[in-house]
Amino acid sequence: MSNTGFPAYVSFFFACCFCCFCCSRAMPTQVKQEAVNNNRPVIGILTQLVSDEVMKPFGRTYIPASYVKYIESGGSRVVPIRLTLTTAEYENIFRKINGLIFIGGAADLETSDFARVAKIFYTLALKANDKGDFFPIWGTCMGMQLLTVLVSGENLLTKTTAENIALPLNLTTEASSSRMFAGLSDELMKALAEEPLTGNFHHYGLTVKAFQENEKLQSFFTVLSTNIALNGAVFISTLEGKKYPVYGVQWHPEVNRFQWDSKLNFPHSPHAVQLSARLAEFFIQEGRRSSHHFDSPEEEASSLIYNYTPVYTANFTGYEQVYFF
Ligand SMILES: *[C@@H]1O[C@H](CO)[C@@H](O)[C@H](O)[C@H]1NC(C)=O
Ligand SMILES: *[C@@H]1O[C@H](CO)[C@@H](O)[C@H](O)[C@H]1NC(C)=O
Repeated sequence: MSNTGFPAYVSFFFACCFCCFCCSRAMPTQVKQEAVNNNRPVIGILTQLVSDEVMKPFGRTYIPASYVKYIESGGSRVVPIRLTLTTAEYENIFRKINGLIFIGGAADLETSDFARVAKIFYTLALKANDKGDFFPIWGTCMGMQLLTVLVSGENLLTKTTAENIALPLNLTTEASSSRMFAGLSDELMKALAEEPLTGNFHHYGLTVKAFQENEKLQSFFTVLSTNIALNGAVFISTLEGKKYPVYGVQWHPEVNRFQWDSKLNFPHSPHAVQLSARLAEFFIQEGRRSSHHFDSPEEEASSLIYNYTPVYTANFTGYEQVYFF
């Protein structure tokens, strides 16, 4: 899929995509809740099916360690969530975790197990939030693309290749009043708009046009930024739920601090590192508003990713370390 001259692993690593824009100004009221201050949040990460041959000897599903470190850096712990459980088992996990991340990778966004499991959690999250049971979801790259499929009920993605390129964001006027960017200093917001702080590794995306033409997406999300793909398509790069704590980035905040392959354009400048830190902190703060918890400390301990050891993969993938399951 990738003809960019980069090694084959690049295509599996970044087969994600998507896009943006819009502006209904009537802001729905955000989810209301009792004050919750859970300082021991646990965030779930859905595993990805291993598709790359070189990774197959290690396991059937995986999570790049960069996403785990990103979540941990914000003050949270991680629970890996396999793709082979029953709906009842996912409902059970949902009652115990305080937020969820859909990561990048390569999966069919409608027919894969990844999409099936994501839809179960997405549906549970909306219902919970409607009842004042706050539960945040974040989608990165393919994870954000998946969110647009879940919200719109259809796959509206088109070719918006931005492969191995770091870009500044074209921020919308809504960005400055967003929740996601509220913790960024004026200096960092300026840098975000002017310096290449966001690593892009995708072939597909949601165009601003597709977004504007879809009523469901327009009423659900506020577009915080757009970017221009190689083919000239204007794609949505950052999304924030108007009513729900649902967030999407077409770019990869985790790589700024936790991936180092020198063939890949991972931003590592001071501003890039700060951006990654602020966004991880933001999402974990959302997780602290969730009161979900495990039934016992023992159950919690046995569910955490600390029970697993990542494998060194820098010599055969674009990731330094990967957890396999
Ligand atoms: C940035 O977005 C605005 C609309 O918000 C658009 O008019 C402008 O052309 C975009 N600029 C770039 C460089 O993408
Ligand atoms: C990667 O490096 C490890 C040692 O750190 C080695 O055992 C493994 O065979 C290497 N894999 C490849 C595909 O080169």
